Amino acid sequence: MSTIHNTAERGEIAKTVLMPGDPLRARFIADNYLEDAALVNEVRCAYCYTGKYKGKSVSVMASGMGNGSMGIYSYELFTEYDVEKIIRVGSAGGLSSELRLGDIVFAMAVSSDANYDGFYSLDGNFSPCADYSLLSRATSYCKDRGLGFTVGSVFSGARFHYDDAFYEKWAKMGILAIEMESAALYTNAAVTGKKALAMFTISDLLRTGEALSPAERQTGFNTMIETALACID
Ligand code: HPA
Repeated sequence: MSTIHNTAERGEIAKTVLMPGDPLRARFIADNYLEDAALVNEVRCAYCYTGKYKGKSVSVMASGMGNGSMGIYSYELFTEYDVEKIIRVGSAGGLSSELRLGDIVFAMAVSSDANYDGFYSLDGNFSPCADYSLLSRATSYCKDRGLGFTVGSVFSGARFHYDDAFYEKWAKMGILAIEMESAALYTNAAVTGKKALAMFTISDLLRTGEALSPAERQTGFNTMIETALACID
């Protein structure tokens, strides 16, 4: 059984899936970290590879950009492929003045203007949040190795381009960083009773305009991937 977005058969995707936004990142992870990686989906270049890491089965699949795209793939992984855990491994724009380029951020909670949960017509505001078991596993991995990290709230936008006034208001609410996929991921995990964690490398600082070079992005990215891979069973 496959879906119109994913030609993998049920059973060809592991119980834990790492999701970068970029398909070429998915390929990079498969090429550099997985043993016996097989390409099980390439519809719309949303590459999905399944292989082994330290003897454990894991898949890595591109989410594409935005809550809409992440919404489709993560929902189908949870409901059609029996996936139990999705770990987003992405980049985010730093909003907090405490953050530096290359820092790792774990999203404990997600605020959003994307209205991904609007479909459920809830009487009140839903608060998408990380699965605590995944979050504590990831932070323990970093602590044990002396790796720096920050845990807190991120903003999952409907847009990439906002203005400074928008950033200032959310910065005052303690938002650490802005990205575009975690609201859908955490909401889908909640409605399906599954687990999710989103982690980011800070690739740019939204209030100063500084950005990582491609080579620097890779270094920060590798630490984050190793942290995510430490969370699989
Ligand atoms: N917004 C701003 N900057 C970013 C983002 C985003 O969604 N992702 C990575 N850098």
